[in-house]
Formats: sequence, C-alpha cells, structure tokens
Amino acid sequence: MSRGTATDLVYLIAIVGFILALKGLSSPKRARIGNLAGAVGMLIAVGWTFSLPEVHSDTHNLVLMLIAMVIGAAIAVPAARLVKMTAMPQMVAIFNGVGGGAAALVSITEFIGLPHGTVAIYKIAEVLFGVLVGSVSFAGSAVAFAKLQELMTGRPVTYPGQQAINAVVGAGVLALAAATLATSSSTLLLLLLLASLVLGVIFVLPIGGADVPVLISLLNSFTGLAVAASGFTLDSNLLIVAGTLVGASGILLTRMMSQAMGRSLPNILFSAFGSVVTASGGDGQSVEGRSVRTGTSDDVGVLLAYARKVAIVPGYGLAVAQAQHTARELADSLAERGVEVFYAIHPVAGRMPGHMNVLLAEANVPYDQLKEMDEANAEMSTVDVALVVGANDVVNPAAKSSPGSPIYGMPIINVDQAANVVFLKRSMRPGFAGIDNELLYDPKTTMLFGDAKESLAKLITAVVAA
Ligand code: TAP
Repeated sequence: MSRGTATDLVYLIAIVGFILALKGLSSPKRARIGNLAGAVGMLIAVGWTFSLPEVHSDTHNLVLMLIAMVIGAAIAVPAARLVKMTAMPQMVAIFNGVGGGAAALVSITEFIGLPHGTVAIYKIAEVLFGVLVGSVSFAGSAVAFAKLQELMTGRPVTYPGQQAINAVVGAGVLALAAATLATSSSTLLLLLLLASLVLGVIFVLPIGGADVPVLISLLNSFTGLAVAASGFTLDSNLLIVAGTLVGASGILLTRMMSQAMGRSLPNILFSAFGSVVTASGGDGQSVEGRSVRTGTSDDVGVLLAYARKVAIVPGYGLAVAQAQHTARELADSLAERGVEVFYAIHPVAGRMPGHMNVLLAEANVPYDQLKEMDEANAEMSTVDVALVVGANDVVNPAAKSSPGSPIYGMPIINVDQAANVVFLKRSMRPGFAGIDNELLYDPKTTMLFGDAKESLAKLITAVVAA
C-alpha cells in the first residue's frame, strides 16, 4: 500500500472517530464514550501526521509545532480542568475563537506562499474565504468571551444607524475580497483581514449576553467552515471533513436553540433582545403592588413530603447557585418516602445547550428521572407539586397566552397544569427575557424566597422532619 493510500485510510479512521463522537454526545448516557471516540480519532490523526516524512524530517517546523503544542496544552489543560460549569460558555467561546484565528492564519500563510500568476482562481478564493470567516469568528468570539466573562456589559450595545453601519462594513469586506481575488495583492489581503476583524466585533456588540450561547454556536460553525476552507487549501481531506462536521453541527445546534426559544435566528442576531427590562420590585411585591403567596420551608416541605408526584424544574438560577447536588439530595429524600420524582428539562433552561442535563448528570441524577420537555408536559396534569428551581422564562405561560410577549411562541414546561407550583428564587425579579411571570401571582403558587441551594437544603430538613 502506498503511503498516500495509508494516510487516507488512517484519516478515514480518525473521521469515523469524529462522527462517533457527535453521535455519542447527543445523549447523556453515551456522551463520555463519544468524547473518548473523538479524542482517539484526533490522537490517531495527529500521531500519523507527525509520522509523515515531510513533517518529521523538517526539523525547523517540527520544533515550532512542538513548541506551539506545549504552550497550547499548558494553557488549555488547566483551563479545562478548573473551569466552573457556569463559566463553560465563555470557555467554549475562547476555544472556538482561537480555532477560527488559526484557520485564518493558515490561509494567510498559504496566500503568501502562492506562486504569482499561475494560481487557479478557486485556490485564491479558498484562501480568502478562510481569512474572512476565520477572522470574523475570532473577533466575534473574543467579544462574546468578554461579554460572558463580564469584562464588558452583557447588555446589547446599540447606537444609531447600527444596522446600516454593519451592512456597509459587510459590503466593504466583500468588495475587498473581490478586489484581492482580482489582484492577488497582499496589501488588500491585509485590509481584508482588518475589516473582517472589525466586522466580527460590530456583528456581536448588539447581541445580549444571554443570547451569546446561540451566537457562539453560530460562530463555531463559522470556524468549522474556515477550517474546511483551510483543508481545501492544504489538500487535506481530514481537515475538510472535520471542518464540515463542525460547520454542520454548529448550524444545526443554532437552529435547534432558536426553535427552543421560539425565536428566529435573525431576531436573535439583530433585535438587541434584552436591552429593555420590565423589572419587578423586591421580595414579595411586584412594582404594581400585587401580592404573592409566600411560604416557609416547613410549609413547602410538608407539601412535598405528602405529595404523590413531584416534578423538579431546574433553570439558570440552579446553575448559578450550583444547587444540582442539593436538588438530587432532596429528590432522594422524597423518593425514600415513596414520592415519585422526576426532573422536567427544558432545552434552553440555563445559558448553554444541554446545561441542565450536564449539571444533573454531574450530580449523579439517574437518567430515567430526567424527562425532556414533551415527555414531562404529557404528565404535568398528574403532578401534585411542580418545584421550579431558579427557572422563570421556561415556565412562563405568557409564551402560550400573550401574543405581544417577547417569548410568545417559545415552547414551555407547563407547570401551570400541576396542582401546586412552588418557585425557589431570590426575589420577584424577572428572568433573562425581562418580563413578568403571571404564574408567580397564581393562587396555587407558593414563593419560597432565597438562594436556591440554601432553600433546597432547608427543604431537605423539612421533608425529613415532616
Ligand atoms: P431565567 O428565565 O433567566 O430565570 C432564572 C431565574 O433564576 C431568575 O428569575 C432568577 O430570579 C433566578 N435565580 C438567579 N440566581 C438564583 C439563585 N442563586 N438562587 C435562586 N434563584 C436564582 O432562566 P430559565 O428559566 O432557565 O430560562 C433561560 C433563559 O435563557 C430563556 O429566556 C432562554 O431563552 C435564554 N437562553 C437560553 C439559552 C440556552 S441554550 N440554554 C441560550 C440563550 C438564551 P431571582 O433573581 O429573583 O433569584
């Protein structure tokens, strides 16, 4: 077998590993094994590449590559080990950004090395695509990181004429790409790089902090496409397939998240959602002075202890409070008393895709207690107590009943159909969408104010004592 065929075969095995990784990651049960399959695929691909004579015989490049790998690993391994679950979105943002930046740099290097005059136009087009999309992804991801890390405001940054300015810069980038294609000028390529970086920044500025995960998924798919373009430039089937897989899965994830929020992608990207907040007042009272029913942990503990069926509905607040372990302990103590407990998981509960599944899996919640939205809704009318832990928008009936509401059309967990509803939150403040939730004022609702973790701990004591 020739070395070229052997390389294709080995890369094919690596590609199968990547595909198995995506398949495995689509379910919590197989996520670990899927992750492992992807890592093994990557190890095979990198190992084989280093074994190629053209790679290991060029000592200068080999040393540079090894230095880059050591620096990368020294930064990435501790970062990945130490990151908190709530900080995962910004971690993904920064990793994605460097991927896009690397793809752009590869394209620039190849452009500089292209022989003048004899190059097919499609070769230059591949390079330009890599530079443009990779730079937008790099700059956009850097701003997304800054927003999520609270290095800058998480609110949408808007100014007059913003859409028009963005459109002009976008058109300028395309014009520069066309001019570079026609002239192969390195100066124009440099201008294209700078303009694409500016486009990445101004594209992300008007997107509110809590919409940023959807944006990151989109930028992730951009990075994938830029990597695929590098693959064409370098004649590497492995990079083409890996980039296309990332591009396609990023787009699908973006679409699924938009659908789960009941909003279109243009609405997420261009409407500066979350810039206006119709906030309510402090504990127990909304701004209009409407009152709500508050309960003590003992009241709620008795309600839970003597229920037949309890649905726990986790949201962003559970993640912030890191209350997943305490939630499981409460579920365990209820189960010991013979209460049937399940967790109702909304696809966008939290701030990143699969947030709740990951957190609850970390707390060793049995998979058979996790119910996706449709499955949970099918039995919500038989639930005695829906315990809403740090969630708001994903249970807000305005999504079904108020056509003017920003979340109208968003599928929700129908906790309003349960016999009793208990909200664990700190105040009457709204959730991410910034709108009041009528369910908080419903006669069958009890509010237990406080940090989710502390409230859950008090509930465990109350259930045991009941
Ligand atoms: P939210 O509607 O944002 O509600 C979270 C609630 O948690 C808040 O009302 C807050 O009330 C409470 N909270 C915060 N910290 C708490 C703590 N330490 N202890 C107890 N409660 C706490 O969250 P949700 O229902 O999970 O909805 C998610 C929202 O994010 C949706 O609007 C969704 O569209 C959006 N979003 C999600 C994603 C993904 S992929 N998951 C992506 C983009 C956007 P207090 O301040 O009163 O405590």
